[in-house]
Amino acid sequence: MNAFTARPKTRLLVDGGDPEETDRVKRLVGYVDGQTTNPTLVAKTPEVQKLVSSGQKFTSQEELDEYKKIVQSISRLVGDAGVSIEVFADLDTTGEQMLAQGREMFSWIPNAYIKYPCTHEGLRAAEMSVRDAIRVNITLCFSQEQAAAVYAATRGAKAPVYVSPFVGRVDDRGENGMDLVKNIKQMYEAGDGHVHVLAVSIRHLKHLLGSFASKAELVTAPSKVWEEWAASSFPLPGADFNYEGTDKAGKSLRPIAYQSFDLNRAWASFDLHHELTTKGIQQFVADYKSTLKPS
Ligand code: E4P
Repeated sequence: MNAFTARPKTRLLVDGGDPEETDRVKRLVGYVDGQTTNPTLVAKTPEVQKLVSSGQKFTSQEELDEYKKIVQSISRLVGDAGVSIEVFADLDTTGEQMLAQGREMFSWIPNAYIKYPCTHEGLRAAEMSVRDAIRVNITLCFSQEQAAAVYAATRGAKAPVYVSPFVGRVDDRGENGMDLVKNIKQMYEAGDGHVHVLAVSIRHLKHLLGSFASKAELVTAPSKVWEEWAASSFPLPGADFNYEGTDKAGKSLRPIAYQSFDLNRAWASFDLHHELTTKGIQQFVADYKSTLKPS
């Protein structure tokens, strides 16, 4: 067990695709509320890598079966923040196709959250899912306006909806990713609380502490960040904590200004385009395909 004096209010998730890693973090921290997975992380799991490097690639059905096995092992290790399972979507996948995958994945485990990309089709799938009581996590969120659309598209959801702003990837392009989390939290203060902010793309301890300080409801981090947190004796941010990140060249990050959006607007009227959302989908598709047999 760990030496916690106080648990963070933010719920803790492991970002990965290897059940052994989740188990290790659980022993280190004392508990794990949930898990996030994505096609890149699944492609990198030791089981999948072993087969791929020996030249035995998967059919798409075998890949899905492998994903299901991984998710079922992880499900037992984590709490009710659930396991986020990502649908396989490229830029042409329709909302109906995503929903069909989501329905199946949702039946794999009792604590599933289905991850849809923050695109027009992804939000159509999310809108249909919440009507059917399928829990959702909207991923690849890079702007406050996208998060406004997530709120509007999922209004009326029975279970909390997650939105996943990508802190590290925003930092990578020189903007302060933690501002994105803070701005979304501030915007949602005017709402009904049905969307919870899940800070993702967490690369180091400062990101973790910044997520706690921004009062994100949830944060997901890879095992190496949880190990860093444990090695520093589980610090929590003080009231004066301010996230001051730098880009890869060591330059200070540019602040992201807060914008006002009316959360009561029709969701499709928001501008959903973001180049990093498109790039993220393309990367996930490439990583997924790298594990498949040529058809
Ligand atoms: C989790 O849901 C995200 O897919 C993950 O945190 C992305 O992390 P990365 O930006 O380090 O790839």
